[in-house]
Amino acid sequence: MIKIDVKAGAAAKQRDDAVVLPLLDGRKLTESGRAFQQATGKVLPDFLRKFDISGAFSTSRTLYHVEGTYTQRVMLIGAGDERKLTLHGLRRLAATAARKLDKGGARDVSFYLPELNVRGASLPDKVQAVAEGVWLGLYAFEKYQTEKEENKRALRSVTIMISSRRDLGSAEGALANARAVSTGTNFARDLANEPGNVCTPEFLGEQAAALKHGKLKVTVMDKKAIEKAGFTALLAVNQGSAKEPRFIVLEYQGGKKGTAPVALVGKGLTFDAGGISIKPAAQMDEMKFDMCGSAAVLGIFKAAIEMNLPVNLLGVIASTENLLGSAAYKPGDIVTSYKGLTIEVQNTDAEGRIILSDALAYAAEQKPAEIIDFATLTGACVIALGSQASGLIGTGKKLKKGLKESGDHTHDRVWELPLYEEYQDQIKSKIADIRNIGGREAGTITAACFLSRFVDDIPWAHLDIAGTAWNMKGTDISPVGATGAGVRLVVDYLSRKGKF
Ligand code: BES
Ligand code: MN
Ligand code: ZN
Repeated sequence: MIKIDVKAGAAAKQRDDAVVLPLLDGRKLTESGRAFQQATGKVLPDFLRKFDISGAFSTSRTLYHVEGTYTQRVMLIGAGDERKLTLHGLRRLAATAARKLDKGGARDVSFYLPELNVRGASLPDKVQAVAEGVWLGLYAFEKYQTEKEENKRALRSVTIMISSRRDLGSAEGALANARAVSTGTNFARDLANEPGNVCTPEFLGEQAAALKHGKLKVTVMDKKAIEKAGFTALLAVNQGSAKEPRFIVLEYQGGKKGTAPVALVGKGLTFDAGGISIKPAAQMDEMKFDMCGSAAVLGIFKAAIEMNLPVNLLGVIASTENLLGSAAYKPGDIVTSYKGLTIEVQNTDAEGRIILSDALAYAAEQKPAEIIDFATLTGACVIALGSQASGLIGTGKKLKKGLKESGDHTHDRVWELPLYEEYQDQIKSKIADIRNIGGREAGTITAACFLSRFVDDIPWAHLDIAGTAWNMKGTDISPVGATGAGVRLVVDYLSRKGKF
C-alpha cells in the first residue's frame, strides 16, 4: 500500500506533482480552491469559464503549470451537489483521483478532499474515507501476470490536506484506522483471489497461523485432529475431496481477561463444485470465492491486531473443498453433526450450512457474548439483494442494530431478512432432525434457519455475502474479483463496541 500522510497547508504552496481540489455543482470552489484562486489571479476563473467543466460528480479536469504555484498540475475533481455528498462519495472520489493521477505519471500528490461538507460526518470520518478510497481503489491482484501494472506505478504518496493544524492529531488517528481496515480488506481480497489450486484448506490454515501475534493465538486442526474432535459434518462434506480439511480457531485478546469474546465464524469452501449434486459448468470457476467468509474473518483479525482493538475475539473457520470423488457424500445420506443433530442431505450443493453447523456449534460451546458468521451461502441472496448489500439474519437484536449502523457508515451494507418461526417448517426432515434444503421459496432464510439450530441462545447474526464478496464488473473502490466484504463492516462494529 502506498504512503499516505495528513498535513495542513495552502494549495498554492504545495510542491507536489499534483494538487487535487474539489469542484461543486455550478463550478463552485471550496475553501482551498478559493484561496488558491486568490493566490493565482485569473487562471482558475478563466479556466472554469472557458472549458466544459461542470463540477458533476467524479468528472475531472487538469491544469498544468499554473503561474504562482509550485505544483506541476491542479486536478479539479467534481464533487457534485454537496448536500448529496456522502462518506462513500469521498471514498470514490479519492480512489478515482488516485488512479487517474497514477496513470498520468504523478508521483506525490495532495488531496484537498476533507474540506468538503458531508452531512453527519466528522473530520476524522472524512480523512478515514479518503484514505480508504486510495488504499482500496489502488488494490490490484497481479501475482499471476507477467506484465504488472504495479511495476508501472508512478504514484508514491498521497498527502491528505486538512484546514487546521489543530485537527492533525485526530486526523492521524483516523488515518491509522484506515490503514488497519484497508490492510485487513486487501488481505481478505488477496486470499480470496487466489485460485483453488493454491488456496486450499491447508493454505488457509497456514495463512491463519502466520497471523500469530502476542495477543493472537491460532490453532489449526488437520484431518486427524478434526476426526478426534468430532467435527463430523465438516468431514462428510470433505469426503469427496482428495485434500484434507482444516478447522481453524483464532483467539485474540485485546480486551479484559475473562470478558466473553465476540465470535466470528467463517465458511471456508476453497472450491465448491456442488459435489454429487454438481453445479452447471458456466461460471463454476467463481466458486473459488466460496471461502470469502473465512477470508473476511482473517481480514478482521489482521485489522484488529493492527488497530490494537480493545475487544476479545474468537475466530472459527471450517474449511474444505466440495468435490465429487468416489467417497463423496451423497444425496440421501444422513450425517450426524458435532452437536449431535442429524442432517438429511438432500442436495450436496447446500454444503456451506453443513460445515458451518460444526463451526457454529463449537463457537457456541465457548459461550461467546455474540456470534457473527460470514458465508457465501446462497444464490438466492444474490437474486434478492444483488451486489449492494449482504443479507443479514439473526437473533441478536442489539447486534443487528449495530451492524446496520456500521453498514451505513462504512457502505459495506447489510439488509435484514426475517427469521420467522414458520420458515423452520421448510427444513423439517421425515427421517432425520433436519434436512439441508428448504425448497425454492425463501432460500436465504431457510439456510439461516438451518444455521439457527446450532447457535443455542447466544445473540447471533448471519451475514450472507454471496452477492457482495466478489464482483465481476469492478467498482471505484474494488477491481474485478474479491471485494473484502464484511471486513470494513465488522471492524467498524467492533471499534464502536470497544468505545462503550
Ligand atoms: N456457494 C453456494 C452459494 C452461491 C451460489 C454463492 C452462487 C454465490 C453465487 C452454495 O454452497 C450453494 O451452492 N447453495 C445452493 C443451495 C441450494 C442447493 C439449496 C444455491 O444457492 O443454489
Ligand atoms: Mn454449494
Ligand atoms: Zn458453497
